[in-house]
Amino acid sequence: MLQSNFAGLVDDRPEDNLFRVHRRIYTGEDVFAAEMERIFEQSWTYVCHESQIPKAGDYYATKLGREPVLINRRDDGSVGGLLNACAHRGALLNPTQRGNSRVLVCRYHGWSFSANDGRCVRIKDASGEDPACYALRKVPRVESYKGFVFATLNEQAPPLAEHLGAAATIIDLLADQSGEGMEVLPGVSSYIVDGNWKLQAENGVDAYHVTTVHRNFANTVKRRDQLLGHKGLKSTDVGRFSGALKNGTYDLGHGHTVIWTMRGDPAAAPLWEAKDEIEPKVGPVKWDWMCGRGRNLFLFPNLFLMDQSSTQIRVLIPLSPSRTEVKVYCLARKGESRAARAARLNKFRDFFLGSGLATTDDSAALEDTQSGAHASAEPWNVFRRGWDGYSQGPDEEAKALGLNPVASNSRWDPETHYVGQYRRWRELMSDG
Ligand code: FES
Ligand SMILES: [Fe+2]
Repeated sequence: MLQSNFAGLVDDRPEDNLFRVHRRIYTGEDVFAAEMERIFEQSWTYVCHESQIPKAGDYYATKLGREPVLINRRDDGSVGGLLNACAHRGALLNPTQRGNSRVLVCRYHGWSFSANDGRCVRIKDASGEDPACYALRKVPRVESYKGFVFATLNEQAPPLAEHLGAAATIIDLLADQSGEGMEVLPGVSSYIVDGNWKLQAENGVDAYHVTTVHRNFANTVKRRDQLLGHKGLKSTDVGRFSGALKNGTYDLGHGHTVIWTMRGDPAAAPLWEAKDEIEPKVGPVKWDWMCGRGRNLFLFPNLFLMDQSSTQIRVLIPLSPSRTEVKVYCLARKGESRAARAARLNKFRDFFLGSGLATTDDSAALEDTQSGAHASAEPWNVFRRGWDGYSQGPDEEAKALGLNPVASNSRWDPETHYVGQYRRWRELMSDG
């Protein structure tokens, strides 16, 4: 019953060059409940970066779908996860989102649990109760790829590497930018958008909106530079927004997608100073992709890795059909110069911060779209742009990188890659 209902919300007719989704996918309470159950509580989702939990006992609290979890660093150096609900009467075990605790003490009645394996180690005023009878449940699967930690409640999920597939090649372009590794910088920009999580998932790989929604950003930065001049590294290269530079889009499989465009001036990137260190290690083609091209990678269902004017991790946390929490972190090269770090943070603040010059405009567009999704006389959102540039498998650019996408597009502003996102959505939503 549910299966046919949800599958029918994606109208997939490539033979007619038609691909559209029913607006109920953004508004339906039943759709959202099924998404939590079938997508966010079953498939791999991103939870945190290893640099956020470097020491034994460090934990990071988040959710897998509706279920609260703690992802933590164990004494043996491995990363694990525990369901964040006391084995007594279910209180959350952490007072803060991040912290360090080898023993988790519940604030309600004082039961204590080992952060290593969840064993109950003490029951206050036990009165014969045996702590050995109680434990926090473990998150069944937690795996890391080059510092990016993913988890799932599904014991039968395929290995993380299989889930990432071709997308791992694009992750490498960010993860391999420093011999010392990458680190999440302190601080988080957290905000709530009155829009469905899939609208945010679309927006981060939507180059089509850039010249309308971000005209304000481009004009403001240009004017600011005219008035103040550049300080330190060159300013954000807003010329790429026009789409005049070489660009493209890939459907990477499993719902993962990426858009990319050449940078007008690679020397404006904070990474440029590492050219002599990194290029010999990775070769000229990978270096060109790392530093010479901006990329927005979406890892279905909840993570963006954006390497544009600055670098960011953007995590989507669905709260309801019409509300999504977004957490944004700046990811940086360990050991970079003060000048590069300052430029990275300045550019991060300009565009990516929840209160920045660009993200606020995106949020307004998403909220408009969410409101419009209630229009029922014409209930379909249509993805028809850019089929003339679409081809199955890798194009020449991908082949040179060793990337094997499901499909390529020679433009960065088509709507063809949403086919990959929504076929994955339909596949998972049809498995009930
Ligand atoms: S709910 Fe945790 S000790 Fe009672
Ligand atoms: Fe945007």
